[in-house]
Amino acid sequence: MVLISGRGSNLQAIIDAVNAGRLPAEIRAVIGNQPGAPGLARARTAGIPAHAIDHRGFATREQFDQALMRQIDFYRPRVVVLAGFMRILSGAFIDHYAGRLLNIHPSLLPAFPGLNTHARALQSGVTVHGASVHFVTHEVDGGPVIVQAAVPVFADDTPEILAERVLMEEHRIYPLAIGWFLAGRLSVENGRVLLDGHERPEQGLNRDIPPSQPPSG
Ligand code: GAR
Repeated sequence: MVLISGRGSNLQAIIDAVNAGRLPAEIRAVIGNQPGAPGLARARTAGIPAHAIDHRGFATREQFDQALMRQIDFYRPRVVVLAGFMRILSGAFIDHYAGRLLNIHPSLLPAFPGLNTHARALQSGVTVHGASVHFVTHEVDGGPVIVQAAVPVFADDTPEILAERVLMEEHRIYPLAIGWFLAGRLSVENGRVLLDGHERPEQGLNRDIPPSQPPSG
């Protein structure tokens, strides 16, 4: 089950990984909170049931989330994947899917939770930025991190160029993390995610990436 709000490029990466046999999974449905979201069209093109539940039709966040939960549970998914789903979720929703609710965030958490991560990364002068896949908990963008990917930040980057570089990594790590989850390879101990019972040495900032240099060629 994948939840989206807009473009759906991460959804597309997941669809492509499934179709290529790299991700043994079945996407039972896609739900979007914006009826015109291009991501819903991507799902339909791929032959996946796609539903729009417009949050503007509900008086409260809780009512919207209840409707969302009813639609999700109809499909009995093993995992609920937030892929650019730009809604804060209620506590009841998060509790209902605890331990099987994944999100991708465009920063190396815990750096830059919230919105406008690429512009904020540039403003802060970091030389390394990236993306994180994490379990969703009550703390916004604060749940245990499953996998991260780092990219260099170059002096002449704009938020758009940096976003594009990060997005390529998002498309790589989200199918990977979903596959680990579905294979039962992930566990959480003391707030840390273990893969096959071990902490992953490469988790966190990739120190192998050289300091900020303009790309050659
Ligand atoms: C992605 O960059 C994702 O990391 C981000 O929204 C974008 C959605 O793109 N998510 C968040 O900011 C969540 N707080 P997409 O619709 O093309 O996958």
